[in-house]
Amino acid sequence: MRIGMANDHTAVEMKNEIKAYLESQGHTVINYGTDSSESTDYPDWGEKVANAVASGEVERGIAICGTGIGISLACNKVRGIRACACSEPYSAEYSRRHNNANIVCYGARVIGIEMAKMITDAFMNTEFEGGRHQRRVDKIMDIERRNCEK
Ligand code: RB5
Repeated sequence: MRIGMANDHTAVEMKNEIKAYLESQGHTVINYGTDSSESTDYPDWGEKVANAVASGEVERGIAICGTGIGISLACNKVRGIRACACSEPYSAEYSRRHNNANIVCYGARVIGIEMAKMITDAFMNTEFEGGRHQRRVDKIMDIERRNCEK
């Protein structure tokens, strides 16, 4: 799979470890930065990976900040994005099964690298179930259409 990754300054090391982990599984990972530990603003990086997912440049995304929350909020402002902040694999699995999430977010200050790998595996290896869940996801996207400017 072609996967995009982005992060703020809190998560450079975690991003690099997860990138290498995904590549060892045969995935192609596009890094949208940052690669610097200098303080930076998470919305800038969230927007980059969200645009890459929304445009189809990558199939799914991973966005990491200190908590996973700020960057998920930023990603969700891009049309077509369903980004979920997850701290354990169950939520990551169901974000795919039921919500058809296209970006998973986590917090480098919240979880360790082994948990990040488990969340990543759950997110990348689970497909959307469709059916009644499609109707609900369609309703989410209708909210976006009704309330967000083009
Ligand atoms: C940076 O200090 C921190 O606020 C950021 O990484 C993130 O946790 C925001 O939600």
